[in-house]
Amino acid sequence: MIDINNIVIIGLGDMGKGIAQVCLMAGYNVSAVDTNYEILNKGVDYIKSGFEKLKKKGKLQEGLSVGDYLSKLKTTSDLIEAVKDADLVIEAVSENLDLKQKICKTVIDNSLDHCILASNTSSLSITEIAKNCGKPNNVIGIHFSNPAPLMRLIEVIKGDTSSQKSMDTGVEISKSLPCLRGERYVVRVLKDRPGFILNRVLSPSSIYTNYIIDLAYEKGIPWEQVDADLTRPNTPMSALILSDFVGLDITYNVQLYYAEKLSPDYKPGKVLTKQVEQGKLGKKTGQGYYDWSKGRPNPDLSKKAGLVNREVFTAITTNEGCRILEEGLVSGWKIIDEVILAGMNFQGPMKYATKNHNQLKKLLEETAKKLGKSYLKPCNLLISGKFIDMK
Ligand code: NAI
Repeated sequence: MIDINNIVIIGLGDMGKGIAQVCLMAGYNVSAVDTNYEILNKGVDYIKSGFEKLKKKGKLQEGLSVGDYLSKLKTTSDLIEAVKDADLVIEAVSENLDLKQKICKTVIDNSLDHCILASNTSSLSITEIAKNCGKPNNVIGIHFSNPAPLMRLIEVIKGDTSSQKSMDTGVEISKSLPCLRGERYVVRVLKDRPGFILNRVLSPSSIYTNYIIDLAYEKGIPWEQVDADLTRPNTPMSALILSDFVGLDITYNVQLYYAEKLSPDYKPGKVLTKQVEQGKLGKKTGQGYYDWSKGRPNPDLSKKAGLVNREVFTAITTNEGCRILEEGLVSGWKIIDEVILAGMNFQGPMKYATKNHNQLKKLLEETAKKLGKSYLKPCNLLISGKFIDMK
């Protein structure tokens, strides 16, 4: 494992600023690089106010002031200069393969031999990002959830060319980064596949959600009632408010991405496509499933449409969990449940599935037939029940 003192964060946008904060909280020297000065300044303000809040709560390390933490933060737009003495570089620039490949090459060409480059990409392949750089062994994925100071999960991803040493260092560093809401949970993702673990196991639920939304639209059922159906109990935001909040264009593009990489069955539904074509993207445009023009909507969720069988979501997530076990992204089902708990704050389905896999298998067969979506058919590991032995 490599000794890490100096960390460079490239891109101080939504993700980068939170990542920079947790690195400072852990005591590392941090250089933040962004091409946009306004974003650099805003990022520093965010970090400063984060530490002020910690001070008020008495959560700063004894004997250290806000100024002590901030004295370890530098900002610059000069990437080459910033990475000269870096031990670890975390890139959180915009999601664009060309840009990330260029950054990767520049970092590896201008940094010390041992320097590791970690990409925070949500969807791009770590292997592809590393492809054109001189030391692909030094490139890994470190995928934070948003915002990094509050979300417990970090996925550390092994690209096809990442070395064991780079992976071990990535895992150790990630474990050293504090989380303000409970214990940090760091998982090794053993294969470079779309969505890594968390996003991947949750992804095919969108196939069922699209079906429900299109069906409700055809029947003229109000969105409030569909929302009441789709919303998981005890969640801070209802399902359709969350969609509007994230942006329907984001959901649409994610589904297109999985349609290309995993199965055409992920193709966005009719309603989602229409909303995006009409520019009804949710909160940011003032209209999505709900009207946001007067602020956050407060829908009445007391009446359900009665279209959703929640056990179908359990079956679909279990099936995808079994698929990633088959593909070797992860070695046991317990890890999948832990990842879902750390990343989403709800119980994963795998433990339940060990006792109920025959029933889930049958439900998947029926659902695949009813929706005409073969991707939802049970995979071999679920059919055989052999995943139960993969703890
Ligand atoms: P963002 O758009 O908020 O920030 C990207 C930043 O990169 C911007 O400040 C931009 O000025 C900067 N940038 C662009 N080109 C640059 C360059 N050549 N050199 C230096 N800085 C440059 O994007 P966000 O949401 O922070 O996402 C960043 C990465 O994190 C993406 O790969 C995304 O997929 C990933 N991610 C995003 C999550 C989210 O919820 N937003 C969650 C987990 C990962």
